[in-house]
Formats: sequence, structure tokens, C-alpha cells
Amino acid sequence: MVAAVRVVPNIDRYAQRTAARRGFASPMDPSQQKEYAFEMAASSIRFGPGCTQEVGMDMKNMGAKRVCVVTDSTVRQLTAAQQVEEALAREGIQYEIFDKVRIEPKDSSIKEAIDFAKPYRPDAFLAVGGGSVIDTAKLMNLYTEYPEADFLDFVNAPLGNGRPIDRKLKPLVAVPTTAGTGSETTGTAIFDLVAKRAKTGIAHRNLKPTLGLCDPLNTRTMPAAVKASSGLDVLCHSLESWTAIPFNERTPRPANPILRPAYQGANPISDIFSLSALRSTVKYLPRAVRDPEDFEAQSEMLLAATLAGVGFGNAGVHLCHGMSYPISGQNPGYRHAGYEVSGPIIPHGVSVAVSAPAVFRFTGPSNPERHLAAAEAFGVDVTGVKREDAGRALADALTAFLADLGDQPAGLRGLGFGPEHVDALVEGTIPQARVLMLAPGLAKELEQEREQLRDLFEDAMTH
Ligand SMILES: NC(=O)c1ccc[n+]([C@@H]2O[C@H](COP(=O)([O-])OP(=O)(O)OC[C@H]3O[C@@H](n4cnc5c(N)ncnc54)[C@H](O)[C@@H]3O)[C@@H](O)[C@H]2O)c1
Ligand SMILES: [Fe+2]
Repeated sequence: MVAAVRVVPNIDRYAQRTAARRGFASPMDPSQQKEYAFEMAASSIRFGPGCTQEVGMDMKNMGAKRVCVVTDSTVRQLTAAQQVEEALAREGIQYEIFDKVRIEPKDSSIKEAIDFAKPYRPDAFLAVGGGSVIDTAKLMNLYTEYPEADFLDFVNAPLGNGRPIDRKLKPLVAVPTTAGTGSETTGTAIFDLVAKRAKTGIAHRNLKPTLGLCDPLNTRTMPAAVKASSGLDVLCHSLESWTAIPFNERTPRPANPILRPAYQGANPISDIFSLSALRSTVKYLPRAVRDPEDFEAQSEMLLAATLAGVGFGNAGVHLCHGMSYPISGQNPGYRHAGYEVSGPIIPHGVSVAVSAPAVFRFTGPSNPERHLAAAEAFGVDVTGVKREDAGRALADALTAFLADLGDQPAGLRGLGFGPEHVDALVEGTIPQARVLMLAPGLAKELEQEREQLRDLFEDAMTH
């Protein structure tokens, strides 16, 4: 007799348990089933010093004749924006510039941008700037394609209706001028929903740019403070996606592939991107911040931002990001030095990194091996470290890294938060379901989750 051969796919670390349970004989309720597949989506990326000048030809090759250029008032003055204009003019392409993007956008600033785009009826979008610009351009593209939609339709549930994007959007080329968000590769756009006092966003793979043009000549002019905070965003994207729950622990299994979330949990492809981005960030971010002439470090940081973008754009982020949205939305008045804005601001990268030591102390027990590997990326000798101390080892490495980088708050107190703010911060985090569902060790039961988040915010007060 020939023994039955069970074929296990070559992703067995993740899939064995699912494969063993697989059976199509009786119908099952997908809402109770765990995920079994993952899908990688990323924009096309071109990387190289000077490649911005090709963008006019790209637009022509895509058949664009009427381009909406999106930027902010600072970036508009930089060589990057001038190069974009020259490149479009060289190809005889018509364009209009919207340069009123708000840094760390709000729903009102996004609506103002959409109101600009609708009557212009562009056949392509070109974003030149940091994450604030690229995210705004994505939403201009979305809502000009769905002119009848209500603004909350596509916003992540439960704050919005979480409607999937089922139409093809216009081409969007993104030219990042910061090394941070990775927004040039992802289907995510983030903004402050003022009425809810928390950041949220829209996430769907159809929102991602057609092409990301990563030109390291464009990031050189970033002030040191922007280099540091955008780089800390890369650090947290890589660490959170690396430690997120595995994709096949996520429920429910989507009933239709269009419902599969962009943020799916750690998977064997995102792991490669996330770990590589982490190693590069630890090595190059301090150099890039300290020395404006260190072009190698700046170039490597732009690459790391994009790598991390591919990693977290598919695996997702978890607690640092989930907690950061109310931290920046409920800012008690902190104004980060080095940012050219008129009011208080906790830059996104600062708001994610401030809780990172507390977060990884908490997530350590979920996967000590991964936390030890991450600590090792910071240069920690982990040979003698016990598994139960893995989270602490990573947290200590992060605390030292943040202190060495300089100009970072040593916890939430440094931003003006105190114990009296904890309840509101917790309530602003709970609706961030899209990222919290990927947080390892976070309870599903609401009261327990609330308690854990309270402890996390208290732990994050100082580090
Ligand atoms: N879409 C995503 O997946 C994603 C991921 C993380 C963060 N975000 C969002 O992105 C935003 C943050 O974006 P960011 O960190 O890239 O910065 P940013 O776009 O907010 O820009 C920060 C500041 O730097 C200036 N600036 C940008 N490039 C410059 C350059 N080359 N030289 C000089 N000044 C320059 C800007 O004018 C601005 O004042 C936040 O709203 C955050 O929530 C999005
Ligand atoms: Fe981020």
C-alpha cells in the first residue's frame, strides 16, 4: 500500500496548522475561520539619484495630458518641485499645482484638496513631498473617482464605513522628499479626524501609487529634526511589522479577496523587507541626522523607508502606531523644534517612537525569538539573554538609541501628557481596530484590552 503524501506548502512555518485543518466538504462560517493566504502588493519603485527628471516622460508614457501636481508650500520652493515642473514642461504636459497640503493633514485640509482636484478633472496625479503630501494626493485621486461618495465611506471602520475601493483610480506618481512613511509604496493614507480627536485613515491596495520615484537627491534638504522623526517612523514600521501577529492568526478569513485587508500580519515576504529596513535604520539614521553631508547615509535611509513601506504596507503595524494616533490628535500643546509650522505639532515619527520601549516590553513574550533578533539588530549581544527578558532587551536598546539620536522626548511626559490624560488616550486608541487586531498579546475582550492599554500608556510616561 502506498502511504498518502500530504503536501505542505513551502511556507510551513505559518501554514502547517491551516493546511492540516483544510477541508472543503462542509460549508464553514468565514467569520470564525483564520486567514490562510497572504497577498503582497507594492507600487513599482524606481530608485536613483536624479531620477526625478524622468517624471515627465513617465507621465507621457502613461498617456497623461492634464496632471494635478500636489505639494506643500515648503517643498514647492525646493529643487525637487522645480525639477518636476521642468520635466512636465519639457514633455509639453499641462499641469496645475496644488501647494496647500497641510503638514499632518486633517479631514478639513483633505476636503479642501479634493475641492481643488474635482473641477480640474486631471487624468493623473503627481505628488512631490513627504507623507503628508503623498497621502493627500491619494485621497484627491480617490474622491475625484467617487464624486458621489460621502467622505466617511472609505474611512477605516469603526470610525468610518470601511468601504472597499472597487474602481480603478487614475495614475499617481509619488516623489518622496522625506525618508520615512514609505507612502510611495503603500495603499494607506492617514489624516486627523478632528471630531474624533484621533488620527485614522483609509487603507486599500487600490489606493497605492502607480510608481514611486525615489531620488536620494530630494531628501538632502530635510532639516535634522525632520530627518530624525521621519527616520523613527521607518524604525517603528519595521519593528511593528516584524513583530505583528502572523497573517494566519488573523480572523476572519475574508469571504472575497477584495475584502482582504492591506494590513494582514507578518508573513514570509514582509519579514525580509522589515528586518532589512530595521538593520539599515539602526546603522544609517544616526549618521544621516548628525551629518548633512553624509549622502550615503541619507540615500540608505530613503531606501530603508521604501523597504519598510513594502514590509508594513502588507504586514501592518500595531501598538506604536495605534497609540500614536490619539497622542498626536490630543496634543496638549507640544511644539517639536525644527518643524516649520504655525501651531503645536507632535510629528508622526516622534509620536510613534515615544511609546516604543513600553510597547516592546509588552509584546516580548508573544515571540521572544523575534524580539531578540530585533535587539541584535541594535548591536545587543543576546547570547546570554533569557527568553523572558527578550522584550526588555529590545526596549533597553530602543531607549539608548532614542537618547543617542537626541532631541527626543523621554516618554509621554516630555510631550506634556500626565496621568490625567491616560483615559482619553486609551479611548482614542480603542477604535484603531485595523492596527490593534495585529497587536500580539492584546486581549480581545474590551475591558481587558482597556486595562492593558492603560498600563501601556502609564509605562510610556517615562523611559
Ligand atoms: N501613508 C502611510 O503609509 C503613512 C505611514 C506613516 C506616516 N504617514 C503620515 O505621513 C505624515 C508624515 O509625513 P513625513 O514624516 O514624510 O513628513 P511631512 O510630509 O509631514 O513633512 C514634514 C516637514 O518637512 C518638510 N519637508 C519635506 N521634505 C523636505 C525636504 N526634502 N527638505 C526640506 N523640508 C522638507 C515639509 O514641508 C514639512 O514641514 C503624517 O501625517 C503621518 O501620519 C503615512
Ligand atoms: Fe508611520
